[in-house]
Amino acid sequence: MTLLSIQDLTVALPPGRAARPILDRVSITVEDGETVGLVGESGSGKSVTSRAALGLFPDGATTTGTIKVADQTVLDSAVAYAMAKASLRQMRGATAAMVFQDPRSSINPLYRVGDFLTEAMRTHGALTRQEADSRAAELLESVGITDPGGALRRWPHEFSGGMLQRVVIAAALAADPRLLLADEPTTALDVSTQAEVIAILTRLRREHGMGMLFVTHDLDLAGAICDRVYVLYAGQVMETQPTQGLFSAPRHPYTAALLGSRPHLDGPAIRLDAISGRPLGLDQPVSGCPFAPRCERVTPDCEEDRVPLTPHDGAEVACLRPQEVSR
Ligand SMILES: Nc1ncnc2c1ncn2[C@@H]1O[C@H](COP(=O)(O)OP(=O)(O)O)[C@@H](O)[C@H]1O
Ligand SMILES: [Mg+2]
Repeated sequence: MTLLSIQDLTVALPPGRAARPILDRVSITVEDGETVGLVGESGSGKSVTSRAALGLFPDGATTTGTIKVADQTVLDSAVAYAMAKASLRQMRGATAAMVFQDPRSSINPLYRVGDFLTEAMRTHGALTRQEADSRAAELLESVGITDPGGALRRWPHEFSGGMLQRVVIAAALAADPRLLLADEPTTALDVSTQAEVIAILTRLRREHGMGMLFVTHDLDLAGAICDRVYVLYAGQVMETQPTQGLFSAPRHPYTAALLGSRPHLDGPAIRLDAISGRPLGLDQPVSGCPFAPRCERVTPDCEEDRVPLTPHDGAEVACLRPQEVSR
């Protein structure tokens, strides 16, 4: 079953606040049990995309397209439907849950960790206090917190960032969601803590049989844990492929450039082929391919019309000449 289906989603601020849409006809799916990566540079629209799955949009933005989470429709602009606030609240947590970059922004510092966890449970199910407490302790144990009983009585400020992110993950799982949206969940953590939190997330995804949309600016991290990856640039999907194909045979010049700009760990240090030029701001209008101004292979036709995502050799790619691209 398809757990997340975003089709042709356009999110645009009113004219005067931006020269191009934040998202331009973005389509993304996550199937049951699948881990799907959404990668792109800062400002490419990753967070706006993942929040859209929960019906959260920037203030004043207009939206077109369709968004479905499991069997529930969140948005269907063709019939002017948007899910009501109460239903969205019900869906958040129960069907789809989200983990953000900074755990401290998700937790009220004035609540004990136990209250934070049991609140999430009590809004979604009819548990007694005692049942909720023991379920909360179980959840903390499942994210590797030793002495869960003690942890329940402590305050958020007594936890490190990594430990608090585990608490947030435990809370996200409280109502057994089918879809986990993880928006740079380890970006704010130090490297060794990052690896632990990633290991916990991938194990829990498997144990709970969830689907996961994993948002990151780190292509290697996406490659390590995702089955399939979407590459976003200036609010458009440039390419999507199963992970292996994306790394071995990227079809979009942007993907190839990203792969070429990575430091090579296994081999002599090679010059970093950082992509020249800057990402496109919202104040810059787009005609044609948004990557064209930075693309080594650009030709005049690239800047004429929007380049749609088209199947090519196992990939879907928004490039006029994907056959010319190789690593
Ligand atoms: N609430 C908002 N109001 C106005 N602009 C926003 C809002 N949220 C995001 N944006 C803009 O949309 C673009 C994409 O943002 P975002 O999805 O946060 O990027 P990413 O997560 O890939 O770094 C950025 O230019 C950002 O400034
Ligand atoms: Mg973001």
